[in-house]
Amino acid sequence: FNVPNAVNEPVNSYAVGTKERQLLKDALAEARAQQVDVPMYIAGQEVRTGDTVSIRPPHDHQFVLGQYHQGTKAHVTQAIDAALAAKANWESLAWEQRAAIFLKAAELISTKYRYKINAATMLGQSKSAYQAEIDAACELIDFLRFNVAYMSEIYAQQPPANAKGVWNRIEQRPLEGFVFALTPFNFTAIAANLPACVAMMGNVVVWKPSNTQIYSANVIMEVFREAGLPDGVINLVYVSGPDAGDVIFKHADFAGIHFTGSTAVFQNIWKTIGENIHLYKTYPRIVGETGGKDFILAHPSADLKVTNTALVRGAFEYQGQKCSAASRAYVPSSMWPALKELMVADLASFKMGVTEDFSNFINAVIDEKSFDKLASYIDRAHASADAEVIAGGKYDKSTGYFIEPTIIVAKHADYETMSEELFGPVLTIYVYEDQDWTSVLSIVDKTSIYALTGAIIAQDRYAIEEATVALRNAAGNFYINDKCTGAVVGQQPFGGARGSGTNDKAGSMINLLRWVSPRTIKETF
Ligand code: ALA
Repeated sequence: FNVPNAVNEPVNSYAVGTKERQLLKDALAEARAQQVDVPMYIAGQEVRTGDTVSIRPPHDHQFVLGQYHQGTKAHVTQAIDAALAAKANWESLAWEQRAAIFLKAAELISTKYRYKINAATMLGQSKSAYQAEIDAACELIDFLRFNVAYMSEIYAQQPPANAKGVWNRIEQRPLEGFVFALTPFNFTAIAANLPACVAMMGNVVVWKPSNTQIYSANVIMEVFREAGLPDGVINLVYVSGPDAGDVIFKHADFAGIHFTGSTAVFQNIWKTIGENIHLYKTYPRIVGETGGKDFILAHPSADLKVTNTALVRGAFEYQGQKCSAASRAYVPSSMWPALKELMVADLASFKMGVTEDFSNFINAVIDEKSFDKLASYIDRAHASADAEVIAGGKYDKSTGYFIEPTIIVAKHADYETMSEELFGPVLTIYVYEDQDWTSVLSIVDKTSIYALTGAIIAQDRYAIEEATVALRNAAGNFYINDKCTGAVVGQQPFGGARGSGTNDKAGSMINLLRWVSPRTIKETF
């Protein structure tokens, strides 16, 4: 297909002494000095309501980065009207014209906006420099470039056969109506991709980001506008969930939702859509990535260092707040004493603190609600006879929402933190007897209420095959001898089933196909 070759964006290390490190530090200082005033964007207009909320770094919550203007139901209605008004012009463009805007956005992030968007992600969402780079810069650029490649393939696909005197064609129409993008805090790339890939396919969008990601969402909107996105194609609103829902899910032109967030919210939305189904002109597309309780399973043949690295990086990078993060592990008793020593030493060496100090590996969790939830699980583990806290276990929210990376050893495979989603830097380990391997496989599958990511660490080929078959429904992204985080766009399409979502693989043709409604045309000559 004739689009620029999509290749993964190279990752900057921000190592000591590099020019990039200084540019990122400058961007951080500039952002801190700025006091940004963040408007909503409706029909291309900046909307300032005067009803403002302060934006604060999770790792330094007494500091104010600026403020955002929040809206009401009336703004949601205006956003829908703006989207519908932009629709005819947007969908009449050739797909190449739409593609060019998103390729331009990718280029802008790669060059002009790289440090600004990374700094916004580091300050607003408390990501380290490296975690911001692989998310807000590289993954977002990859989403935009690879999705353009996939879209070109979608538009090229035609029925393989025509009978004599007949021409069969498929027209990939945008959905009839508007799409709602409801996006999470934990990846700037996901927050941007959910509205962007829908718009790319010719749709118009109302985008409501998480309140804790508005700071970087504002930079994304700046990029999209500079790239030439027409007014009204993506409308960005900051309203409460109930206010957005009340307007959107009762609107006749509601044509779909692209969601990443909690299982409970998604299930509620699905029910609401069901209750209102008679109101809509078309059956809405419901696409969502939801909760996770991702696992790492080590076999007695596992390499010790590979297991340690997979666990430490998989569980604690970005404070365990990746939807893919390892939060439960199953380790054979023969390996445990040596593994425990390595893990405890690694955790003791991690520095925790503000993102602007690049030597900190651990930063803050996203907000007070998350902090309090994690603290209560840690308190219960300290007090429980069924659990032992072997590393970390302390927390402090006086200046930022800091939770030490914590390892809990559970005496039973059904201890609460082996099955409930915590979304933070807490890993629970269950040590099994080596000879119980087969029953552990069955436990992992049965307790995988969610099924987003999982990993098997083993050198024994037979064990790898056994786990791959036994756990085929326990994870949508399954890793062999690697951590369970870090899916790369264009390499590992991402998403899970069971309680983790509709598995419409972010960064793939499968996902983009949800945002078109094909028309088959048969012409007889
Ligand atoms: N794509 C992200 C990861 O795999 C969620 O870690």
